[in-house]
Amino acid sequence: MTTHRIGIVFNGATGELAGRQHLPALMAMRDEGGLPLADGSRLMPDVVLVGRDSAKLEATAARTRFLRWTTDLDTALASPSETVFFDAASSGLRASVILRAIAAGKHVYCEKPIAGSVADALQLQVAANAAGVKSGTVQDKLFLPGFEALLGLRRTDFFGRVLELRLEMGRWIFDGVDLPGQRPSWNYRKRDGGGLILDMFPHWRYMIDALAGPIKAVSAVCRTQIPRRRDEHGADYEVDVEDSVFAQFELEGGGIASVNSSWCTRPRREFAIQVQIDGALGSAVAGPFACWKQTAAEAPGGSISAALPQPASFFDGWTAVPVGPAAVNSYRAGWELFLRHVAEDAPFSYSLLQGAKGVQLAELAYQSSRERRWVDIPVITA
Ligand SMILES: NC(=O)c1ccc[n+]([C@@H]2O[C@H](COP(=O)([O-])OP(=O)(O)OC[C@H]3O[C@@H](n4cnc5c(N)ncnc54)[C@H](O)[C@@H]3O)[C@@H](O)[C@H]2O)c1
Repeated sequence: MTTHRIGIVFNGATGELAGRQHLPALMAMRDEGGLPLADGSRLMPDVVLVGRDSAKLEATAARTRFLRWTTDLDTALASPSETVFFDAASSGLRASVILRAIAAGKHVYCEKPIAGSVADALQLQVAANAAGVKSGTVQDKLFLPGFEALLGLRRTDFFGRVLELRLEMGRWIFDGVDLPGQRPSWNYRKRDGGGLILDMFPHWRYMIDALAGPIKAVSAVCRTQIPRRRDEHGADYEVDVEDSVFAQFELEGGGIASVNSSWCTRPRREFAIQVQIDGALGSAVAGPFACWKQTAAEAPGGSISAALPQPASFFDGWTAVPVGPAAVNSYRAGWELFLRHVAEDAPFSYSLLQGAKGVQLAELAYQSSRERRWVDIPVITA
């Protein structure tokens, strides 16, 4: 059996998400003998870890057994034996490093948000097209088994006409004073690409477009609820971005999505991200690892008086939708598709233009919040 090596420059290799998801995805592929390709051969990822801190890189190399590492991105990009560039470093630098990688002739794959503005995001797709390199962005959430099941219901028209979608996302993030914050501090600083809208609305765009219909307009209100936090080094800093956002989206087909995103809430429900879709024919609720459905006929009847106890719990009367294995690494699904796209020209749906649509929703949500009004979402092309 033939095995082809594929060199991957992995920027931001010592980061939280890199260590928790992306590197394990590539390690699993390597440890299984490479990614199987259509012609029976295998593609073996050979990663060069790039970061700023030699000690952390050395530790990451030892842990992952991807032994090549460097703090010099330019040298890694200049090496002709690397084919792909991947970026999971902090968001603020993304567009500029991707442009450098494209200029070096690499195929580029990256985390979201792909840029800080729509103009910069579209420039990336234009540059990749002009350079003739393959490109794409991580859109992992719909590979999670619960949301995949929800998408399956939508594809079989279980909902009929979609009327409403509710998305709740949130956690309480400690301010770093008594307990350490669970998110890197750059997420709370504008100059580093922080902000909850820029962070999460790219996900909401592709999820809601696929689950309930394309988003046509946005109305958003945002707040900075916790204005001071303490960083990883014990230094206090001012938060200059939003940490909670209350948004509505108008959908093609007439549906409305209500989307609450907050790092200042203590959830009491199954999942940190939970989506409910109500359609004319049925409803479903899903989190990353489970999905339940209820047809219109199964909705509870009886008195609707809020002052009377209900004979049955609203949690009854729902049927679990079978989902895939809970241990799946949803980021690996994206890697497999992208590497097959590079190696054997397999189709890949998660283009930089798709990533730009996520940035567009974020940009227009900021505008809506600033101007206190609904903002339409125009079609964008590269
Ligand atoms: N797809 C998702 O659901 C998801 C989830 C979490 C994070 N992310 C994205 O992944 C990216 C990283 O997030 P994270 O939580 O891992 O953050 P992190 O702070 O843990 O990691 C960022 C990495 O970038 C490196 N870095 C920062 N500034 C740099 C610079 N100037 N030069 C070189 N390297 C630099 C840091 O050293 C660190 O290794 C962000 O863009 C974030 O939006 C996506």
